[in-house]
Amino acid sequence: MPPAALFAHQHLLGIEQLSAAEIEHMLDLAEGYVALNRHAHKKSDVLKGRSLILLFFETSTRTRTSFELAGKRLGADTINISVQMSAIKKGETLIDTAMTLNAMHPDVLAVRHPEAGAVNLLARHVNCAVINAGDGSHEHPTQALLDALTIRRRRGPIAGLTVAICGDILHSRVARSNMLLLKKLGARVRLIAPPTLLPTAVETFGVEVFHDMRKGLAGVDIIMMLRLQQERMAGTFVPSQREYFHFYGLDEEKLALAKPDALIMHPGPMNRGVEIDSVVADDITRSVILDQVELGVAVRQACLEVLARNLPALDHNR
Ligand code: NCD
Repeated sequence: MPPAALFAHQHLLGIEQLSAAEIEHMLDLAEGYVALNRHAHKKSDVLKGRSLILLFFETSTRTRTSFELAGKRLGADTINISVQMSAIKKGETLIDTAMTLNAMHPDVLAVRHPEAGAVNLLARHVNCAVINAGDGSHEHPTQALLDALTIRRRRGPIAGLTVAICGDILHSRVARSNMLLLKKLGARVRLIAPPTLLPTAVETFGVEVFHDMRKGLAGVDIIMMLRLQQERMAGTFVPSQREYFHFYGLDEEKLALAKPDALIMHPGPMNRGVEIDSVVADDITRSVILDQVELGVAVRQACLEVLARNLPALDHNR
């Protein structure tokens, strides 16, 4: 099969549009970048002559930095637009900003926005490839891909594993993208949360739902913890952070209910003492939180590579 046939999309907007084969292909490609990133010489010219613009309307440490590193290591010209410094602050609309950037002929635009659906809307107004770097509480495909790579490297095939996603599922694009990906690859997914932090139609997702964390963690292979996304909450969703930690915080006592070798994951940023205790977060035998960060760069390199294959070819004779 020619490489372009292995990823048949102009954009990477969500896990929802991807097949299991496309996901596995991107993870296989990322494996090569993990090895390369551990060498002193990390550069390649896969994206030489291409330009990547990062447009982040929300704060970010891991995602923004790893996209920038990924672009630079592949040889792209990488530009980072700070919303604070741009004309967006002067009242320009999302579409006008997108069309302005598009007029400069970038090849790839990686966008993060607080509204669900904003990145899909933007993609309809530009010619370049668009990557969703997180849209509201909708999708965060590159996070789910890097989580899958982390699991696969530690536990082998994802099919048949039981994964518990715990915490603020309602507001989490990470939870949504992970649920979609894990189910496509054949994992069993459990959601653990208080009723106030679960979406309404949760029973239609094909997952098991637990309100009691102790029951939900029994025998699981993987535990994914999530932050309380206070910035997306209008009003109060939990009585107090202290009480939340008591019922839904991961500590040594609750961790003991999972499989003895269960992995602890967190997309970051962590709120220590709210959803996770420092002792388990820093347990180097169980916690793979920093592996997730490392693999995030490799996964974003793989995403850029598959999208670049579907861009118009560079004419080197001109
Ligand atoms: C997540 C996000 O922004 O959705 N973080 C990330 O990308 N690593 C999760 C979060 O903000 O809690």
